[in-house]
Amino acid sequence: MDETHIDRALALAARGLGAVEPNPMVGAVVAAADGRVVGEGWHRRFGDMHAEVNAFAEAGERARGGTLFVSLEPCCHFGKTPPCTTAVIASGVRRVVVAMLDPFPQVAGGGVAILREAGIEVVVGIREAEAKALNAPFLKRIATGMPWVHLKWAMSLDGKIATRTGDSQWISGVESRAVVHELRGRMDAILVGRGTVVADNPLLTARPAGPRMATRIIISKSGELPAACQLRTTAREIPTLIFTENAAILRDWKDDGCEIIEMPMSLEAILRELGRRGMTNVLVEGGAGLLGSFLDAGIGDEVHAFIAPMLIGGLGAPSPIQGAGIANLANARQLVRMQTRSCGPDTYIQARFEKRS
Ligand SMILES: NC(=O)c1ccc[n+]([C@@H]2O[C@H](COP(=O)([O-])OP(=O)(O)OC[C@H]3O[C@@H](n4cnc5c(N)ncnc54)[C@H](OP(=O)(O)O)[C@@H]3O)[C@@H](O)[C@H]2O)c1
Repeated sequence: MDETHIDRALALAARGLGAVEPNPMVGAVVAAADGRVVGEGWHRRFGDMHAEVNAFAEAGERARGGTLFVSLEPCCHFGKTPPCTTAVIASGVRRVVVAMLDPFPQVAGGGVAILREAGIEVVVGIREAEAKALNAPFLKRIATGMPWVHLKWAMSLDGKIATRTGDSQWISGVESRAVVHELRGRMDAILVGRGTVVADNPLLTARPAGPRMATRIIISKSGELPAACQLRTTAREIPTLIFTENAAILRDWKDDGCEIIEMPMSLEAILRELGRRGMTNVLVEGGAGLLGSFLDAGIGDEVHAFIAPMLIGGLGAPSPIQGAGIANLANARQLVRMQTRSCGPDTYIQARFEKRS
């Protein structure tokens, strides 16, 4: 039964995807003393009530003597809301089942300790792997200070992202593009290289809008960006950031509302800056040069590949990932947790990078 209720808590937690970050997603189920579910809740939006409090609000007095199932250790500090441990103790539950401890420094086992001190039986670690997978981006940012990096591309069945003349719109179909807009709508940032700005003049917004508005980021060592492009003309309405080694030639962009950060180009330093700004998920939308430099730097957490049923051919037609690449297959980055589904005529593959030991 513990597993069943925690599975439900994890499913509830996932409803907060895109709306709760930089907080973790959390779900909670309250079962009465006789085992009946009497309350459910999840953290719906950053700054709103936590999952446990929402579940207790539904359960009311029926929680007394029962069990709380929660996908993450209850917090024990005053943040945007009071500590959840206070609400758990006040609810009168006798038992708490937690999928995983919260590594957030102000919690980190403290929540469980307070509950045990109050005489509540606490079980930790039910469906821990699933809970960690659900909140992997949050966990990465807490552990490394850097956001979770999603790499995305659309390609033909023969592995091309454009023709030899650079024609690339559109390789994927409308259904795939709708999925990309959903992805964009839950990101903190969308990154592209200078080449993509020149070739595609993208807007990089989520249409329709999602739960959050991503900052659009251009990576360009040279700073040689086209004078007229959509990212620049919309920079006053939608945050736009350029990382470059040559800010001097981008003064006009700054006047138009773009933020320019001049620094030696290092993807890790860029990601640290994004993590410092509280960003949890960033989407790298190409092109091949930028994706290649991510792979060469060993940076990337998740892949979103859309494969269209068409053939392009041509040695000069680019493949999704350039850069230097690897010399030996033994060094290839392996992908795990691969999920494949149809998106209209296309195939959508979502997978995570295997963690390096
Ligand atoms: N099908 C798809 O999913 C898809 C998606 C996006 C783009 N595309 C296609 O891809 C093509 C563009 O790809 P591309 O490879 O030419 O361009 P790109 O990757 O968008 O941009 C390459 C440029 O980005 C900058 N850059 C990349 N990595 C960097 C790093 N580590 N540090 C500093 N700067 C870095 C450099 O700019 P500087 O030269 O200024 O240093 C570099 O020249 C277009 O044909 C576009 O249509 C296809």
